[in-house]
Amino acid sequence: MSTERSGWKTNIGFLLAAIGSAIGLGNVWRFSYMSFQYGGGAFLVPYLVALGVAGLPIMILEYGIGHRQKGSAPLSLARIDSRFEWLGWWMPVVAMLGIMLYYSVVIGWCVNYFCYSFSLAWGNDPQAFFFKNFLELSDSAVHLGGLRIPIVFSTLLVWVLCWAVCYRDISHGIEKASMVFMPVLFLLTIIMVAWSASLDGAGAAIANHYLHADWSKINLFTADPEKARAAAEVWTAAFGQIFFTLSLGFGIMITYASYLPENTDITKNALVTSVVNCLYSFIAGFAVFGIVGFMAKTQGTAFEEVIKSGPQLAFVVYPKAISLLPGMNTAFGIIFFLMLILAGLTSGVSLIEAFACSVTDKFAWSRQKVVSVVCCAGFLGSLVFTSRAGLYLLDIADHFITNYGLVLGGALECLIVGWVFRASVLREHISAQGTRLPAAWDIFIRYTTPAILAYLLFLTVKADLSKNYGGYPTDQLLIFGGGWMIICLMLALALAFGPWKADKLARRHEPGEDELLV
Ligand code: PHE
Repeated sequence: MSTERSGWKTNIGFLLAAIGSAIGLGNVWRFSYMSFQYGGGAFLVPYLVALGVAGLPIMILEYGIGHRQKGSAPLSLARIDSRFEWLGWWMPVVAMLGIMLYYSVVIGWCVNYFCYSFSLAWGNDPQAFFFKNFLELSDSAVHLGGLRIPIVFSTLLVWVLCWAVCYRDISHGIEKASMVFMPVLFLLTIIMVAWSASLDGAGAAIANHYLHADWSKINLFTADPEKARAAAEVWTAAFGQIFFTLSLGFGIMITYASYLPENTDITKNALVTSVVNCLYSFIAGFAVFGIVGFMAKTQGTAFEEVIKSGPQLAFVVYPKAISLLPGMNTAFGIIFFLMLILAGLTSGVSLIEAFACSVTDKFAWSRQKVVSVVCCAGFLGSLVFTSRAGLYLLDIADHFITNYGLVLGGALECLIVGWVFRASVLREHISAQGTRLPAAWDIFIRYTTPAILAYLLFLTVKADLSKNYGGYPTDQLLIFGGGWMIICLMLALALAFGPWKADKLARRHEPGEDELLV
């Protein structure tokens, strides 16, 4: 057993941190909007299938490999074969550069809106307020138009908070923070759900739009080719959402599991993390549909016309609904945005940790030094998203990173572990820790999951080639999407270059390591 690596103090601390990473901004609005768009209750079918055939097997894989190799993603993969170290870097680099730089800015927006809730500063027209007064959105992604100072300050606050948590070692930092943040988050969510669901018009919206199932939207085997194409889109979206929501393919769960002690039930922990995360999304959906239903009823408009996707749901629809409430508007706003801030922060620290741990593993620098440098550089990097073109830039980066970077990372990780390391070896290790893993898991990791992910990638490429994502001009997509990914890849290759300090790779041959026992 490793003696130099710090670790979780308790299993519940680990679980809350992993669930904290999984539950994020995406659970609150991304899931709800997708349910609405893709067939209401029927969307649960592809969602649960995706959870079963891709989410859970990869969650077990990430936990298993981190626990077995006792290292961050690059160290774990380099210990399998040094030729794959670059993939181990690709994942945390994408997490840091590709996601955290803009994720921190969106949490920053929530901080701003938390403050605006005290005076309901968005007034009667939250849409104009969000785009014109708050973002001061420029007319295109190439016109940065200078920084938005209020957003710079809130983003700085987010980085400082994340730094303060990650600076301390895992049990005193992330574990302690999760033990406080997560119960508070659950409590706030319950209050939100109960409050929203009791509003006038909420029940009908929940029954007719959230729970009501439109099975035709998920039927892949219909004779109508147009309908079949639309159904394929629903299934692709469900897989993408499962990946994003479970924080898979970033090396986060590998890193978190590397801090676990021997004899930790990997399968059970993976099951609990995945189920709690998905259940949270489902429950949070009641709050979203409830309040949007209330708003539709109050304004006398159709539900379809009020609900909006992505950031607009939180920063336009919610503020509007908050203003319409008959009383305690400020309290409602404060609870809602605090909920988003907490959900975001626990995901943010996991993104930083995956990268910082990789660097400390390889270069044997102190955690404090690495986290401080990473957070300073990260804040400077996120400034580009606090510009007046920030919304466009984060939209493009998000599309490429989540649809290509993440899915590619997940598929390659399955293939390397499945074929080079051998799924059966990892399965033996996992089974020896507690709950036995059925042999069918090998089949998922070696064939089913990578095949599905490859097909998903194919569908995305096809869709992107036939239509420019979001209607952006091709050159902007290539520069801000493709260019961003090439920068991530080059950084990953550079970091994979050179030897490991402190003879880390050799450690797997030490007597007592379980590799020698199998
Ligand atoms: N899982 C988080 C969410 O649903 C997002 C996230 C992705 C967080 C990747 C960390 C890493 O919002």
